[in-house]
Amino acid sequence: MHKCQNTRPDPIIAFDVYGTLIDTTGMVELLRKHAGNLAEPLSTLWRQKQLEYSFRRGLMRAYRDFRVCTSSALDYACLTFSVSLSEDERNMLLEAYRKLPAFGDVSAGLKQAQEAGLRLFAFSNGTASDVGQLLDNAGISGFFLDIISVDELHSFKPDPSVYHHFLSRANAKGKDAWMVSANPFDVIGAAAAGMQSLWVQRSRELIMDPWESGPNLTISSLAEVAHVIAGWRNNQQQNP
Ligand code: LAC
Repeated sequence: MHKCQNTRPDPIIAFDVYGTLIDTTGMVELLRKHAGNLAEPLSTLWRQKQLEYSFRRGLMRAYRDFRVCTSSALDYACLTFSVSLSEDERNMLLEAYRKLPAFGDVSAGLKQAQEAGLRLFAFSNGTASDVGQLLDNAGISGFFLDIISVDELHSFKPDPSVYHHFLSRANAKGKDAWMVSANPFDVIGAAAAGMQSLWVQRSRELIMDPWESGPNLTISSLAEVAHVIAGWRNNQQQNP
């Protein structure tokens, strides 16, 4: 019989936003009007460049907020595919980016996680105001205790200081805090900064970076979050 009681706090969950809760491929249909059958590669390049610009700005200590990374990346992708946009069309696309839809599994997955007693936060490269608007628009803002943005620190993921900032804002220890992300760089970055990491592998073709360490857990849908973290916790309690 176990004499010790578990005194560990309820797990804290940091949900990544773009690509994990919010579907950035939701721009493809809108881009089709301007780019025809190049809409898909344009959307992919837009996202890749947005992230690359955030990495570079973080390393260069040349912070401008994530909106700037997003708009410069759109310009780069349009130049690459020789797509010219009027000022109005460009503004319209950037406005639509602030209203992207959530993935289909998100609402039910968050509800289950909340009901399981997990403490949920949104943790993003996006500014708190942009993320707030996205979550409101997707009808999921009520699940989160707070939105924590890298903007508070003027750096970007995967700078270890942004994960430490998350832990301090959420008043959590790394061993009790999970980064839930579909972005491999975010999973590896959070783990390197001392958090637990859970990779959402949204399709079988997606590959985890073959680095020296990977995520603690991998799932294919947010519907599994509550279940796998409960299982991990039980295991920890039995083998502390
Ligand atoms: C975010 C980026 C990584 O939401 O997608 O932080």
